[in-house]
Amino acid sequence: MVRVAVAGGARGIGLDIVQAILDTKKHELTVLSRTDQPLLTSKGIDVRVVDYSSVQQLKDALAGAHTVISCLAAYGSDTAAAELALLEAAKQAGTARFVPSEWNSACNDVVDLYSGKETVWKTVQSSRLEYTRFTNGLWMNVWGPGCLRDEEEALGPYKCRPPFCIDVGAGTALIPGDGSQRIVVTRTQDVGRFVAAALELPRWEAESRIAGDIVTFNEVVQLVKGICGKDLNITMLSVKDLEGILNGDNLDVGERFYYQLLLSIALGRTDFEPTLNSFCPHVKPLSVADYFRRHWKSD
Ligand SMILES: NC(=O)c1ccc[n+]([C@@H]2O[C@H](COP(=O)([O-])OP(=O)(O)OC[C@H]3O[C@@H](n4cnc5c(N)ncnc54)[C@H](OP(=O)(O)O)[C@@H]3O)[C@@H](O)[C@H]2O)c1
Repeated sequence: MVRVAVAGGARGIGLDIVQAILDTKKHELTVLSRTDQPLLTSKGIDVRVVDYSSVQQLKDALAGAHTVISCLAAYGSDTAAAELALLEAAKQAGTARFVPSEWNSACNDVVDLYSGKETVWKTVQSSRLEYTRFTNGLWMNVWGPGCLRDEEEALGPYKCRPPFCIDVGAGTALIPGDGSQRIVVTRTQDVGRFVAAALELPRWEAESRIAGDIVTFNEVVQLVKGICGKDLNITMLSVKDLEGILNGDNLDVGERFYYQLLLSIALGRTDFEPTLNSFCPHVKPLSVADYFRRHWKSD
């Protein structure tokens, strides 16, 4: 049993990780948040309200924590500064293990808003703490908006966000590449279960790669047809198309982020072999087919 501190654990992927750790009934939990979290407190979780500009305050909040897991919204210099302060506080508090907020794929060099993640990752590597970065590919939950059943579960932390690439409700698919590119897709609830299981491992690899499922977009289109009975209207964007769009000067920050994410998929950055799955064989993630059956099948 160790004390695990989850920064940003009150919502998003952090909340799925907190829930999965709670379910193991094996560890003590601290959640760091910038505001009170009465719901978590009522579940017996030690919530510490923190100001990420104060290393001293973060250090106090991390007293007794063995592992720190960052789930902060890592999109730029503000959150990179917050994560660097968290890392420094973890070092000063005598924490053994640290996880930076990655939760994606090896695409930090393609996506401008992820450059802060790379800064944090380099600092983590030279921190002398034990560390790992979890990569999980695309969240399967991005295919949940508008689904027919159990939308809350389907979306998880992807609540109030638009469908990404596959919009089953609208019957459209925007495919980066030519459809034959393999991509790793993982449900966030399964990411949580893998992370909770990884706490038991005696040693961490520098990279912990999780795969819920590995599919091509062509296969996803066929699954939607077979399971949901929908023929998706397909638009494909090749690497060249995406580079052309990104070379234009009329994109705002959000659009740039979106097309860079598509480009990273088209470049194959979301295709990788899992490593953590074989260390945690008891964690059985949901497949894409079962996700569509569970949330989009009409009968
Ligand atoms: N693979 C995928 O498909 C995928 C999709 C989406 C996101 N992600 C990744 O998942 C991670 C979480 O992203 P998200 O968009 O889901 O995050 P989010 O839920 O929007 O935010 C997570 C937490 O970050 C904290 N936070 C937000 N802004 C902050 C700031 N300026 N300073 C300090 N803390 C701040 C908040 O905690 P408090 O308010 O409680 O302090 C918030 O609950 C990121 O690394 C992101 O890249 C991956």
